[in-house]
Amino acid sequence: MRGTPITWPLQYSINALVLAALVGIGIAITIGGGNTDLIIAFVAGALLLGVLGVLPVGGADMPVIISLLNSFTGTAAAVTGFVIGNYALVVAGALVGASGSILTLLMSRAMNRSLANVLFGAFGKTAEAGPAGASLPPGKTIRETTPEDLAVLLAYSQQVIFVPGYGLAVARAQHEVKELADQLKQRGVRVLYAIHPVAGRMPGHMNVLLAEADVPYDELKEMDQVNPEFPRTDVAVVIGANDVVNPAALNDPSSPIYGMPILRADQAKTVVVLKRSMRPGFAGIENELFYHDNTLMLFGDAKDSLTKLVAEVKQQAAS
Ligand code: TAP
Repeated sequence: MRGTPITWPLQYSINALVLAALVGIGIAITIGGGNTDLIIAFVAGALLLGVLGVLPVGGADMPVIISLLNSFTGTAAAVTGFVIGNYALVVAGALVGASGSILTLLMSRAMNRSLANVLFGAFGKTAEAGPAGASLPPGKTIRETTPEDLAVLLAYSQQVIFVPGYGLAVARAQHEVKELADQLKQRGVRVLYAIHPVAGRMPGHMNVLLAEADVPYDELKEMDQVNPEFPRTDVAVVIGANDVVNPAALNDPSSPIYGMPILRADQAKTVVVLKRSMRPGFAGIENELFYHDNTLMLFGDAKDSLTKLVAEVKQQAAS
């Protein structure tokens, strides 16, 4: 099954019909006193609605849906507790239901999207339409850099902020980032990590990833704490992040991510973006940041690029 939203005509009308039929069967079961055939039809219909309801949700919105379905299991358990008179089940179910709903809403809010948009928006569908953004739009240019040049730039900086994103998790390059940070710190560079609440694909994704590499906790900075640091930062190194640094969220009202708070990497003196191509991120939209005058692109898998960078920084320190 592909990860992008699976949609077809009249999808939501069909889902609404299945839901209406289920409500009808539910009423018939209640009035009729538990006819077995109706109960089987109810269970089958509920399963069908579950599948049909989730198919139009894009793969990357799945964490939100999983959290929502999780909260439903809690609510169902709580209601079952009432029916069978089991108070432990009521309390446990209510806890799961409440915490799941809170997590679902927090995740939607951090993406500046309503839950309805996550459920019915088929977000990211434009990304599958073709290699949108895979080649340069006419009239726009980018500036590429090499590990050698970047190593010099980093080593002579006073402050460097790493901006990790989903691509860092894909490349499993957290240990290489830590190694690069250690090398830079040995040369007197102040290193911080900027953590966006929805970077990656699940809450706390970047925190978990960097904790795995033993990155000191006090170097991880939340968005509100780190944004004022960018204007006095020499280099912002964006590693496999895209949407969370896209200025369109601030200045393009037509953008699907308009209104989402972003990490202001664009305000650093130099921005370096490590990614494999010009392909868009989860939202499937172009990122103006890549064309800014102060932005340098380092193409390649994040792990390879970082390994080369570490080797270059070490070589410079030795010479
Ligand atoms: P994205 O905007 O998805 O961008 C990830 C970037 O990583 C891509 O542009 C991709 O470019 C690059 N990449 C992928 N594999 C790579 C590799 N091996 N090496 C180097 N680069 C690689 O990520 P983000 O900035 O972290 O934003 C997260 C997005 O997910 C947001 O839109 C957010 O709303 C959404 N979302 C988040 C959550 C939670 S709770 N975190 C849940 C659902 C959805 P290339 O293909 O060119 O390499």
